[in-house]
Amino acid sequence: MTPDYSLLARQLEALLDTRDWLTNSAQTCAFLMQELPDLNWAGFYLQHQPDLLCLGPFQGKPACHPIPFSKGVCGAAARTRETQRVDDVHAVADHIACDADSRAELVVPIVVNERLWGVLDLDSPRQERFSEADQAGIEALVATFIKRSDLACSDIT
Ligand code: SME
Repeated sequence: MTPDYSLLARQLEALLDTRDWLTNSAQTCAFLMQELPDLNWAGFYLQHQPDLLCLGPFQGKPACHPIPFSKGVCGAAARTRETQRVDDVHAVADHIACDADSRAELVVPIVVNERLWGVLDLDSPRQERFSEADQAGIEALVATFIKRSDLACSDIT
């Protein structure tokens, strides 16, 4: 069953009661891990250097770092600035396996002032975990994170 994403968006908006991007990104991935079923990893990668994703706040096993824009599902999201929804990561040739349990993946780009700030990456051990409705709902949650956070200050480039 698809979660009530509009309720989750209201809850996330209430949870993010600071403008601080670090606090808010830590809270957001903890919230997603708690509220969404069948996830084994939820976290942020940030563009702190051009065309390179650095591991940010996350929940789950220690993960791959850094990830160039040229590689993996996260790199594809950063490069194209389009959400990547993967039913079976084993079918993606350049998928980067951080946790062998991961089977499906959803990566949402975070663009602020026309700059790729980073991506939100969700992994699931269940094949075809993310439906189109999940994608739309999670993109709306990312929009809430963007709205509640001062992201322009976080770049180190
Ligand atoms: N699977 C990702 C790498 C990040 S981990 O899943 C946390 C990718 O292919 O980009």
